[in-house]
Amino acid sequence: MKSRISEKFRTLFGKDGDFFASAGRINLIGEHTDYNGGYVFPGAIDKGMIAEIELNGTNRVCAYALDLDEYVEFGLEEEDIPSQSWARYIFGVCREIIKRGGMIGGFNTVFAGDVPLGAGMSSSAALESTFAFALNYLFNLGIDKFELARIGQYTEHNYCGVKCGIMDQFASVFGKKGNLMRLDCKTMEYKYYPFDPKGYKLVLLDSVVKHELASSAYNKRRESCEHVASAIRKNHPEVEFLRDAKKEWLDEVKAEVSEEDYMRAEYVIEEVQRVLDVCDALERGDYETVGQKMYETHHGMSKLYEVSCEELDFLNDIAKECGVTGSRVMGGGFGGCTINLVKNELYDNFIAKAKAAFKEKFGHEPKVYDVVISDGARKLE
Ligand code: GLA
Repeated sequence: MKSRISEKFRTLFGKDGDFFASAGRINLIGEHTDYNGGYVFPGAIDKGMIAEIELNGTNRVCAYALDLDEYVEFGLEEEDIPSQSWARYIFGVCREIIKRGGMIGGFNTVFAGDVPLGAGMSSSAALESTFAFALNYLFNLGIDKFELARIGQYTEHNYCGVKCGIMDQFASVFGKKGNLMRLDCKTMEYKYYPFDPKGYKLVLLDSVVKHELASSAYNKRRESCEHVASAIRKNHPEVEFLRDAKKEWLDEVKAEVSEEDYMRAEYVIEEVQRVLDVCDALERGDYETVGQKMYETHHGMSKLYEVSCEELDFLNDIAKECGVTGSRVMGGGFGGCTINLVKNELYDNFIAKAKAAFKEKFGHEPKVYDVVISDGARKLE
């Protein structure tokens, strides 16, 4: 990928730039908890984005997306927002840096990636983190890593219409080879967990479906959570986020909130606890409990949070039938992947069965990605 980028960069710009990379992510458990101030448990993966970048001394950005064969130029003022969605990620990162007082100018770039799009592995966070990291480095801005992640998150909020939490950008900035990370999204405390479960593999099954309106449905989930948190806050002022609420406190406001909002909040409160349970289980090396919690998450995401879909429920059922230790829909939902914790000796049978049964029902095979936990944003030598 690097040499293809380099070749194109020379053709377009006549010289060489510096290379930067960042990663997509997986999440073991803790879904839709980030914007509720709860815990998440992600890790960066070996699929990501690579960009070659060179400052051009103007105030324009000249960007070429190799995978799409598209070239775009834009300025750095608010009204210069490009129409291509991929270019908005880069533009948004520039704007968010500028809003924070970062003095940046124009640059030339060619980039490419291998994070499957729409698969719930955060290709967009990989793109944002690559550019946030690179611009911080090239313009010597001294922005700390949390702020780099925030720049990506606010790019999504302000330029891409998704009111996402911090998980994806955190994972792609902080990711470390061989380690998952538990992040407390309220205090931003985090801890690395070396993750190498002996006798098990983590594998993603990508349904290759992405349902329309995923971002508006996502934003709607967030609104439900905020609505319930503010109802609970009337009785319990210490509740800043749903993460701070107890199930009994949710029940106190049951009559005040819609049935749908109640279900959303119930899922979140349970999910926050599940992450902690998984951490305890990991410390004991108890992967059976980890897996059990993953199934519980799937059930909650499907029946209470309602972000699964027929294809993902089907993959989850097959995992169960094949005796897979844990399986669940990963990421925002509405399509994308399941993440599966499977014993080595069951792996081949599971993959073969899942491919065949899925194809029979939906007309195409799911894609299979073995998880390799890798480094996040970095400069390449
Ligand atoms: C998306 C968002 C994240 C997070 C997950 C669900 O990936 O970008 O912030 O909310 O969905 O856990």
